Amino acid sequence: MALSENGKKTNGMSKYRDIIISVALFLILDVGVLILNFIISAQIKQDAISVGLAGREMMLSQRIVKATFQIHFIQNYGRGEGKRIDAPREELKQAAALFEQTLEGYKEGKKVLDENLEPVYLPKVEEPQTQEIVTRALAIWRPFRRKLEPMITARDSVDLAVSINTIIHALRADSKLLDLMSDLSFDLQSKAGNRAEILRLIQSGGIVLALVNFLILLFHFIGKLRQRDEEIERYSQGLEEMVAARTKELRQSQQQLIQLNENLEVMVENRTKQLRDSQAQLIQSEKMASLGQMVAGIAHEINTPLGYVRSNIEAIKETQSEISVLAKQFEVTQKKLILGELDDFETVLRRNHFLLKELLRNPAYLQAGLLLDGAVEGLDKIQDLVINLKNFSRLDEADMKEVDLSAGLDTALKIAHNVLKYRVEVTRDYGKLPLVKCYPAQLNQVFLNILINAAQACEKPDREDYQGNIKIKTGVELNKVYIEISDNGVGIPEEKLSKIFEPFYTTKPVGQGTGLGLSIVYQIMERHNGKITAKSKLGEGTTFRIELPLTASTASESSTSGLFTEEEPETSLFKS
Ligand SMILES: Nc1ncnc2c1ncn2[C@@H]1O[C@H](COP(=O)(O)OP(=O)(O)OP(=O)(O)O)[C@@H](O)[C@H]1O
Ligand SMILES: [Mg+2]
Repeated sequence: MALSENGKKTNGMSKYRDIIISVALFLILDVGVLILNFIISAQIKQDAISVGLAGREMMLSQRIVKATFQIHFIQNYGRGEGKRIDAPREELKQAAALFEQTLEGYKEGKKVLDENLEPVYLPKVEEPQTQEIVTRALAIWRPFRRKLEPMITARDSVDLAVSINTIIHALRADSKLLDLMSDLSFDLQSKAGNRAEILRLIQSGGIVLALVNFLILLFHFIGKLRQRDEEIERYSQGLEEMVAARTKELRQSQQQLIQLNENLEVMVENRTKQLRDSQAQLIQSEKMASLGQMVAGIAHEINTPLGYVRSNIEAIKETQSEISVLAKQFEVTQKKLILGELDDFETVLRRNHFLLKELLRNPAYLQAGLLLDGAVEGLDKIQDLVINLKNFSRLDEADMKEVDLSAGLDTALKIAHNVLKYRVEVTRDYGKLPLVKCYPAQLNQVFLNILINAAQACEKPDREDYQGNIKIKTGVELNKVYIEISDNGVGIPEEKLSKIFEPFYTTKPVGQGTGLGLSIVYQIMERHNGKITAKSKLGEGTTFRIELPLTASTASESSTSGLFTEEEPETSLFKS
């Protein structure tokens, strides 16, 4: 990975190296040519000054001669004002100064005044041949300059002989100086020409080199572009292949995903089914548990009347054997009377009397009616319990039914009677409830679970004056029916209150509670679009409130009558 990154970096660098080298070469060439151009241009400018000044030297030398002539003629042939030599003398002086200054400039290089009398630098002539010309010119000029001195310094007039001498000298010197200055000018011009030629060559060379460089760059870039195009072509081909491969892979993984999804769906379905099954099993086992409790209670309930029905019947049965002995005795007596066998008739009568007395003394015989009434009553009780049992389980009603909830509550109370009777007093405060559409067996299970929990909660408090109480209150509020079951048992700590509807949450010892009761209650309430809430205070008691929605069809009123009828008191004591 690191290697390939390095490789990429090197590629990147080499990609730019060519460009950098080409640009650098281009810059160096151009800048070099430019600098050379500047240098040579500056030298050409100097050459132009030198050449120009050489021309001026020729002119100055002639002006000097002309000025000497003018001074001579003005002095000798001039009149009055025309005799003034100031102007030609001044010109002579200035021309001589400029001529000398310029010659010295050529000799050793210095600042001189140009034709506009502006100071310019006059460089020293380099070539020995030119130097020689300047030296010779200076050698002619210096004595000539001395000859000119009297004319330059003279105030008004110059001696005739001196002036003629000066003129002759001037003429001689001037022709020589003119020749020399002409040579100088020629030399300087040819040198400037050479320089200009070099400059032209450099410029053309620079242009040619720049052009070559440009062409090299152009070809280089065209080559690079072509290479890039080919690479791009190759890449795009590779890319297409990659995309095709990726698409294939993606399609495959999509297929796999679809497959997985399908498997998952099947799995989820199976799991849901399993969960539903186990939930159904749980509900079933809870049902079985409450059925077990209920059966035990019912068995106990049935056992009591059954006991006295049996003992009553047995008592009557015993009386019945006494009666049949007596009947037989009377039959014997009657036979003896008919046949006239009266020998031991007294004994027979005595026995009759004894048996009758015995029978009349038997309380079972005397209270046979009461005993039978008691037995019938016992059988009624048993029948009542059986009806309740049937009502409670309502196995024949799997569909939703419009149900009288008060009756359902009472059935549950009866079923739980055995559990409740030793622990609590139950107070019923039923409002007038309409029929409610529900699954009756399920709601009965709800009531039973809550009632049994309440009874179990009232078991614990061991205060001497403690009396367990369960209060059932029902009523209608807006469009719902409510049932409140309150107890004054141990209560539930606040932090546990949210847990009680969770499956398997129990505070009861192992074997006593499964912790499923309230979770099933919760589910049943959900199935009914109802609501269950709990309020509790530790040590004071708990209230469960159930709310069931009233639909239009359940608006019809029902009485609170059920197994507990109007003639029964509002408070029913189950405690025996
Ligand atoms: N009326 C109540 N007073 C005090 N605690 C209660 C009351 N009702 C329920 N609880 C608490 O809620 C817990 C859960 O109740 P739930 O009916 O779900 O299970 P359980 O009664 O423990 O077991 P199961 O109902 O399966 O026999 C109980 O163990 C108890 O601690
Ligand atoms: Mg319970």
